[in-house]
Amino acid sequence: MTRTIHIALDINGQRHELDIEPRVTLLDALREHLSLTGTKKGCDQGQCGACTCHVDGQRVLSCLTLAAQAEGREITTIEGLTGEAGDLHPVQAAFIEHDAFQCGYCTPGQIMSAVACIREGHAGSDAEIREYMSGNLCRCGAYNSIVAAVRQAAEVA
Ligand code: FES
Repeated sequence: MTRTIHIALDINGQRHELDIEPRVTLLDALREHLSLTGTKKGCDQGQCGACTCHVDGQRVLSCLTLAAQAEGREITTIEGLTGEAGDLHPVQAAFIEHDAFQCGYCTPGQIMSAVACIREGHAGSDAEIREYMSGNLCRCGAYNSIVAAVRQAAEVA
């Protein structure tokens, strides 16, 4: 018999209660149980950054985080970045302005990393941005535009 646990997750300012197996990752809880599909599954083993979201303001790889570990903590996904009126976060706006995506699959993870990069003060130079963002892979190779977008967003932050 499969054992389930009852947990409550605070995501983007809303509480969600769910019954899940203890082994369910935060990524699968978001996508499969709560239909928050903005957070993407790429490698599912901590290598691509597509699943990046924030827990208590720190970026995490949600494919390597159990949902149960995130209980009682403040989770932010790409869906939670926009303002109440639906206005884009400055990083989102900068990504659009600089065409910082092609297929778009890695974009939510890139943006969540970029927000943390700026907030933590790692956007002082292109080299610093590249280093901090190096865990977020883009198979289309939009890296130059991504760096330009992060640099611009850092200037207005
Ligand atoms: Fe989590 Fe690739 S899906 S790092």
